[in-house]
Parts: sequence; C-alpha cells; structure tokens
Amino acid sequence: MKTLAIIGAQWGDEGKGKITDTLAAKADLVVRYQGGNNAGHTIWVDGVKTVLHLIPSGVLHPHCLSVISHGVVFDPEAFLTELERVGQKISITPKNLAISSHCNIITSYHKLLDAAREKQSAVKIGTTGKGIGPAYEDRTSRRGIKLSHLLDKNVLRQRLAQQLEEKSVMFDQLYHMDYPNLDQEVDRLFNLGQKIYPFIQDTFELIDLASKQNKNILYEGAQGILLDVDYGSYPYVTSSNTSLGGIYTGSLVPDGKIDEVLGIVKAYTTRVGEGPFATELFDATGAMIQQKGNEVGATTGRVRRCGWLDLPMLRYAIKASGLTSIALTKVDILSGLDRIKVCTSYHYRGKNYHTAFPGIQLSEVTPVYQDLKGFQQDFAQHKSFNDNVELTSYIKFIEEHLEVPVGIVAYGPDRSQIQFNRVYFN
Ligand code: GDP
Ligand code: IMO
Ligand code: MG
Repeated sequence: MKTLAIIGAQWGDEGKGKITDTLAAKADLVVRYQGGNNAGHTIWVDGVKTVLHLIPSGVLHPHCLSVISHGVVFDPEAFLTELERVGQKISITPKNLAISSHCNIITSYHKLLDAAREKQSAVKIGTTGKGIGPAYEDRTSRRGIKLSHLLDKNVLRQRLAQQLEEKSVMFDQLYHMDYPNLDQEVDRLFNLGQKIYPFIQDTFELIDLASKQNKNILYEGAQGILLDVDYGSYPYVTSSNTSLGGIYTGSLVPDGKIDEVLGIVKAYTTRVGEGPFATELFDATGAMIQQKGNEVGATTGRVRRCGWLDLPMLRYAIKASGLTSIALTKVDILSGLDRIKVCTSYHYRGKNYHTAFPGIQLSEVTPVYQDLKGFQQDFAQHKSFNDNVELTSYIKFIEEHLEVPVGIVAYGPDRSQIQFNRVYFN
C-alpha cells in the first residue's frame, strides 16, 4: 500500500487534474478531501477533453474508486449535472464513486450570499461564486447541513430553518434580495438527496478497508497552497485548507501516514480572481503566455493573470506542505522565448528574502529575477527532451534552487505528454 498526496503549489490550476489522471492508472482510490466545485480539473485523453469539478480525477480509469470525502463542500445540484455530463463518457455507479454522508452541503442560500458579498462588499475576493465560503462558514459555526441530512425531511427542515434564521435578515435588510423560501429549499434539497442516495457511503470505513487490503491511495487536492485559508495570501484565498493539513481533517489517512507529497508546479505562475501577485506580467510576454497557455479558468471562464515562476513562494509552499517532489507542468508554453525570468528572492522592507512567509505583504515585494537562456523544443515531434541543454538546465535550476526533485515534467495537455523521472506507484 502507498499513500500519495497531490497538492497544487501555487494559486491553483497547476495541472492537478492531468497529473492525478495519469497517476491514477496505478492507484486504487482517488480521494477529494477539500474544496468543492470551485475546482476545475482538466484531463485530455486522445483529443477528448473532460473537466471535473467535484468528481475526482481518477474517474476515467474504470478500475479506480473515486471518493468524495467529508472535507468537501458538496453542491448536490452541481454534482448531478456533472454526473450526467461525465457519465456519458464513462459509467459512473456506486461501485466506482462514493460520497461521504458527512460532506457539508452548499445550499441556495450559500450561493446567493457569495454573489451578494462579491457584488456589494468593499473588499472583493473574486470568488468562483459557487457558495464555497458561506458553506464552510456554516460548517464551522455548526449550522452546516450534512449530506445525510438530505435524506430525512424533518431534520433537513430543522437545520435549514436554523441557517435561514440569520441569513433571511441579511437578504432582507442588508442585501435587499429575493431568496427561495424554506419550503422551496427543503423540497429542492430533499429531491436532490433522493437522486444522490445510492452514492452516499461511509467513506471513512471505505478508506480504512482499502488500507487493510493494501491498496494505493491517491489524495487529490483542489486549489493551491497559496489559496489556503491559513497559509495563503489572506484574505484573497479560498475557505479550506488546501495544504497538507487539509487531508488529515478532510479525509481518513490510514495510520496518519502519507508516504509522498507531490506538489504540482506550473512552469510559470497564474492566478484567477483578486489579490497580490508579485511576479505578474503586464506586458506582451504575459499576454503571450496567457494566450499560448490558454490560461482561462476551467470553472468560471475568467482570464487567468500570468507571471514568471516565483521561487520564494514555492519555497514557502514546500515548507507549508512538506512537498517531497514536484511535477513541473506546461514547460511547452515557455518554449520559443529568448529569455526566461525566474524570481529567486524578494526585496521587502529593506531586506532580501529567499522564502515568502505568512504575513508578508506580497503587494509590497519587489521580485529579484535571474535571467535564463530560453529553450526551443518541438514537443509535438520530439517527445524526449533530455538532449535539450537549455531545457534540462532550466529544470535543473528549479530543482537546485528549491532543493526538491522534479519527479515529473508535463509538456502538453494530453495524458501521454508527460515524462516521469521517478516511479510513484509500482
Ligand atoms: P488544475 O485545476 O490544477 O487541474 O488545472 P486546470 O485544469 O484548471 O488548468 C490546467 C490547464 O493546463 C488545463 O487546460 C490543462 O489541460 C492544461 N495542461 C496541463 N498540463 C499541461 C502541460 O504540460 N502543457 C500544456 N500545454 N497544457 C497543460
Ligand atoms: P483548482 O482546483 C484557481 C480562487 C478564486 C478566488 C479564491 C476564492 O481548479 O485549482 P472561492 O470560490 O473558492 O471562495 O474563491 O480562490 N479559486 C481558484 N483559483 N483554481 C481553483 O481551483 C480555484 N478555486 C478557487 O478565483 O480568487
Ligand atoms: Mg483548475
């Protein structure tokens, strides 16, 4: 048995879906443990694109059991829409997909509140609008509704009434907006629960059993370490623990042991939504990366902001999540540039810093760059790039500066466009 965690090491969209899908070929379980349908994980297989929001990225492998564990905030309606869409490509049944009865539910009220705050608050986060923050708030304030509650109309009504008690005042008096009444929302959620019922399982027990049977377990993170509610660029973050700790609270880790933590790192940096971004590019190179890299959000369709690779941020991410190796993705997008810049340290309030730290005002840092010779590689024609001196030295430069091995290099969106420098699952 082996446990492997896949965690985004930047601001999300690093290519977690692609790497998870590839490694799932040899995994038995793929477990989502935090976040919700704010995630958008893209997989390409032989020219066919699949975008997943809630369903784990091992689902295209028929042998894999996909698990949505209790740390995920679960939108039942969004799930059924996704199930129908993805179910046209591959059969998804309770045999290959299990959802924890303990997941907290995203209600209509959460989505409305998310939208209202984004529209009317002075500080805009640029959320995905999926109700993620409000749902996690209710979970923490103990007003959450669990998936199991959808199956009992009386319990559901009671719990929803408690949620609406305060929210109705906000909708009426603060945001002046319409919202579904209690009966409407009870009926809607109850009906959705009836459809989801066959997939609801005790995923704690299921993972425990898998470990006893010596299975390989892959934990698939959503978002990225810099979006972590505690470690990230607060307040411009999501509302869950996207870093290593989130696996322990959002799922079962047999014997408390995760064998390897693979950080997914895009060869440059992107960010969607608001918030500081030290290495952001506002020039033609930034525009080129955005266009060539097709940097458009898989969930919201928003254009992603683009910038150079940020090593101080990555050094921080490595520490925050104990990354044991990294997968470097999208190197193909940088091919053809004469020069590539990499931020090696920050100048901040009169000092030089090699590692970012919590509380650093990213908006105030001046990035210190090292200028590297660019590389040219036709990835469509030549799959091996080991003889490309500039490209291999770019990868080596990253490895040496981060002191973590690059175990995987991805050079295209397709499942096949990947080079393994080491074995993750036997
Ligand atoms: P995730 O949220 O981390 O799963 O990443 P997204 O799916 O949101 O965004 C990554 C995008 O890059 C998707 O469109 C992928 O198909 C694509 N992608 C992943 N790896 C590579 C790569 O190595 N090269 C290229 N060109 N595209 C890639
Ligand atoms: P994947 O898993 C990139 C960002 C939003 C916003 C902030 C808070 O595909 O990498 P939220 O809706 O979570 O309250 O929004 O977090 N965000 C992501 N950015 N990739 C994601 O997921 C994201 N999920 C949330 O843009 O800035
Ligand atoms: Mg994404």
